[in-house]
Amino acid sequence: MDGATGIVNPIPYGRQSISEEDIQAVVDVLRSDWITQGPRITEFEAALADSVGAADAVACSSGTAALHLIMCALGLGPEDVVVTTPLTFLATANAARFTSARVVFCDIDPETFNLDPNRFEAIAKEATGRKKVVVPVHFAGLPCDMPAIHGIADRYGWMVVEDGCHALGAAYENATGEETKVGASRDSLMTAFSFHPVKAITTGEGGAVTTNDPGLASRLRQFRNHGTEKNPEKFRYPEFGMDGEAPNPWYYEMTVLGYNYRMTDLQAALGRSQLERLSRFIRRRREIAQRYQAAFADIPLIRFQKIPAGYHSAWHLFVLLIDFKKLGKSRCAVMESLRENGVLTQVHYLPLHLQPYYRDTLGTGPVDFPNAEAYYERALSIPLFPAMAAEDVARVIQAVREVLTG
Ligand SMILES: Cc1ncc(COP(=O)(O)O)c(C=O)c1O
Repeated sequence: MDGATGIVNPIPYGRQSISEEDIQAVVDVLRSDWITQGPRITEFEAALADSVGAADAVACSSGTAALHLIMCALGLGPEDVVVTTPLTFLATANAARFTSARVVFCDIDPETFNLDPNRFEAIAKEATGRKKVVVPVHFAGLPCDMPAIHGIADRYGWMVVEDGCHALGAAYENATGEETKVGASRDSLMTAFSFHPVKAITTGEGGAVTTNDPGLASRLRQFRNHGTEKNPEKFRYPEFGMDGEAPNPWYYEMTVLGYNYRMTDLQAALGRSQLERLSRFIRRRREIAQRYQAAFADIPLIRFQKIPAGYHSAWHLFVLLIDFKKLGKSRCAVMESLRENGVLTQVHYLPLHLQPYYRDTLGTGPVDFPNAEAYYERALSIPLFPAMAAEDVARVIQAVREVLTG
């Protein structure tokens, strides 16, 4: 029985999978000399970069921090413009606002729920700004049409950075038909990831940025640690930093205004241990998603996210689009029936242009982004996580079928 819900063994919409090896990895760090940012960070960063096929990874304290570090590394400010989808978690757009950059939303494709490249092109032609950045979000783990977005960005002088927080372990075919993992950052400058417990792997809280650009990686690391610089070659005031040819061991310079966005070695050890099971996690997520697709295929009131050929979703979420009007039940009533049967669901997300902050600051409101709004009216995320047993999947299927067809 769950104390909070009063339901026997409720199945959440997402949760972490922690093994004995994960626990041991964290305990080993607790017994070591380093528990803040230390050697496990370097190992986790190398393993993550290797896993996605990028040159480097910079670990940090959350996906939100990863996105903010990206905006800082790009040097964004009030004269700059950032385009993203309204169908995302708050952090994507907020990270741009942390730098005072202007946010412009771009509607989604109604089939894939991802940023629509055609609509982005229309904005890219018109929008003005000193620096222009587009942030595609791989919604629910499905990669955006990156070759198209990259091509448009190049044509109109935009920079691309990816919000891959849903999509560690996902892949797509690039313009030459080669498989590209999200995070390889082939069609972008940098990719942000989150390691929150419902994500593909977890470090408790945590995040990272992957990139192939050493200059950006160095800026990300600098902003992660209060804007400090310890590389003697970059010292602006060597008369303080150097003792002849040798750098003073205590010395660092702060050259930009940075943050404490460091990850701990405890988290990095967990992340590295989790990363070893990433492909297993994704395989299990895919199996469950395919079971759902088959089990609900005959229910005309339901639609799923379209996965185009050549795309491999990381299946972060399984979203049902349900025609609640035709069903004659509200979403709330459906959620409550499912809850009574031990199936916990969630709604991802109220489109950001309908959040009071963005309504107030951008003057946005209903009807501005019709595809995102149509999605929102029908969306319901049902449980999907690797530790779901076959009985859990069967319970979800039965409960959903009952409430939608019963
Ligand atoms: C698309 C997206 N971007 C960014 C974030 C922020 O990640 P975090 O919660 O690790 O700060 C999330 C987290 O839920 C997310 O789903």
